[in-house]
Amino acid sequence: MGWTSADEAGRLRHVAGAVRLEPVDEQNLEPLLSVAAAEAEPDDVMPPVEAPAGWSLARREAFREFHRASFGGLDGPTGSQMYAILVGGEVVGMIRMTRCDEPGTVETGMWLGRSARGQGIGPVALRELLNAAARAGMRAVMAETTPDNIGAVSVLEKCGAKLRENDGRVHAEICLDSTPPAF
Ligand SMILES: CC(C)(COP(=O)(O)OP(=O)(O)OC[C@H]1O[C@@H](n2cnc3c(N)ncnc32)[C@H](O)[C@@H]1OP(=O)(O)O)[C@@H](O)C(=O)NCCC(=O)NCCS
Repeated sequence: MGWTSADEAGRLRHVAGAVRLEPVDEQNLEPLLSVAAAEAEPDDVMPPVEAPAGWSLARREAFREFHRASFGGLDGPTGSQMYAILVGGEVVGMIRMTRCDEPGTVETGMWLGRSARGQGIGPVALRELLNAAARAGMRAVMAETTPDNIGAVSVLEKCGAKLRENDGRVHAEICLDSTPPAF
């Protein structure tokens, strides 16, 4: 696990000012779907659905419904708050937090369009998400990924996650009391 190096911190500071989270709503849902369809795999951005392969009309509609189901946020029926990630005003991906059974704990997941990856946007978006979780009274943010997802593991490490590998999965926990200072 490592805090960010000086070079990395400089790069992230540059990106940080341009990144903003906006709750997913009817206005940014179509831009979000456009990015997903053009620059991401369905499996990276939504649960599996019975539909023709690729970004078929049925899968696009399921994507809309999946996000609309969480318009109620943390206290709504899914217990999930989804945010569009914007860079310079353009939607580039999504990050969410979902209540866990344990009080004060949420689980997070995120994706970026291919052209937005590898530029340090993920760690900034996660940092913003941690701030939002803390404001909502949360104490810990959990995440799960696979050991081969180098991008996801790297982002979690950069945000101070404690990582544990078990049964071919990586379990991450970020304690909000010990979040490192902003870039
Ligand atoms: C995981 C993800 C959100 C990371 O965000 P990001 O903004 O790309 O993160 P960073 O820019 O800090 O890069 C993280 C690592 O990704 C790798 N990477 C670099 N360029 C990349 C690219 N073009 N595409 C994918 N990964 C890249 C590098 O290993 C980098 O690590 P390093 O900075 O320590 O060298 C993003 O890659 C993504 O959306 N992936 C697909 C969806 C997914 O896997 N989500 C997580 C599910 S648990």
